[in-house]
Amino acid sequence: MIASGHWPVLAALLALHILSVVFWIGGMGFVTVIVLPALTRLPPGRRFPAFQELERRFARAAQILVILTGASGGALIARLHLQPLLDRTAGLWLDGMIAFWSFFVLLLFVLEPLVLHRRLAAQAQRDEPRVLTRLGRAHVILLILAVVVIAAAVLGAEGAA
Ligand code: HEM
Repeated sequence: MIASGHWPVLAALLALHILSVVFWIGGMGFVTVIVLPALTRLPPGRRFPAFQELERRFARAAQILVILTGASGGALIARLHLQPLLDRTAGLWLDGMIAFWSFFVLLLFVLEPLVLHRRLAAQAQRDEPRVLTRLGRAHVILLILAVVVIAAAVLGAEGAA
């Protein structure tokens, strides 16, 4: 939480941070809860290509949102002088945000374009329903993790105030 007297730069940074998280995780929630279940209604053979088309567009937006989240988060750490918290148990909520963010950087900028895209397409040729079930499970796990990270961030920031 930001103490009064640090306005307006800190407030703007926190707003940018939270809006980026809202659109990024909100988009992921939409894919998980609405898009993936809806795809099962399409005829077999068209489900995975439809998923890929939607995911490709969302991945581009997610890349920008993840960069904005990381940049605003880093600036908040510097301006709030939270660096000492990073290697203390009391700062685990901060480490959690950074770990979750780092995983997504790896996923969106390395694994998805270089490995997963091709591998999943090949697997979907053989067994499309199985690939979509696994994708659904992976999205649910990531969404649950995001909720945990967000809850820890809000509680942790209250404690750090
Ligand atoms: C490099 C990655 C990240 C860094 C460096 C970072 C850093 C920060 C910092 C310094 C704050 C302000 C804490 C305060 O007001 O005392 C904050 C707030 C917050 N962050 Fe992050 N963050 C990162 C990624 C994330 C991610 C991935 C999420 C969610 C999935 C997230 C969710 C939040 C939320 C919800 C708040 C608001 C907490 C509150 O003020 O109640 N952050 N973050």
